[in-house]
Amino acid sequence: MATPEVTMTLALIKPDAYPKRAEIIEEIKANGFTIVKMREEKCTPDLLKVFYKEHEEKHFFNDLVNFMASGPIVILALSKVNAVPEWRKLIGPTNSLVAKEKNPETLRAKYGTDGQCNACHGSANDDDAKRELGIFFPELSA
Ligand code: CDP
Ligand code: MG
Repeated sequence: MATPEVTMTLALIKPDAYPKRAEIIEEIKANGFTIVKMREEKCTPDLLKVFYKEHEEKHFFNDLVNFMASGPIVILALSKVNAVPEWRKLIGPTNSLVAKEKNPETLRAKYGTDGQCNACHGSANDDDAKRELGIFFPELSA
């Protein structure tokens, strides 16, 4: 069997959940993640357009960028064995209304509101994690 690998993912606490960041950070630690890097920032729309490039043709793109630029966010590099899927599991389904129904223990259920304001971001796979970590923490790949 392959040795379990410690990997990294990018996590964001979005503007809607920023007031609850202390609680969320406690949950992150309690679930066995190591916080490798953490900082707070109010991102510009230009940076967010690059970050969410894969969604630029979607109907929700402009609203998403404006929401994410509306206030400060917490930006974290998290490590754990299988960090990417582990973090996705802890945050839960994309739509917080679905999360509240199906996975009420997840962060998006507890701290999010709907399909846009869903409290947290997590990279979708290891390649995305590398790209997203490179945007916010270029020093990690130097
Ligand atoms: O964040 P996740 O990878 O789970 O979902 P996504 O499909 O990559 O979408 C990125 C973000 O766009 C979501 O987390 C939502 O904040 C937002 N979104 C939205 O506003 N409306 C949708 N119909 C889908 C996503
Ligand atoms: Mg995504």
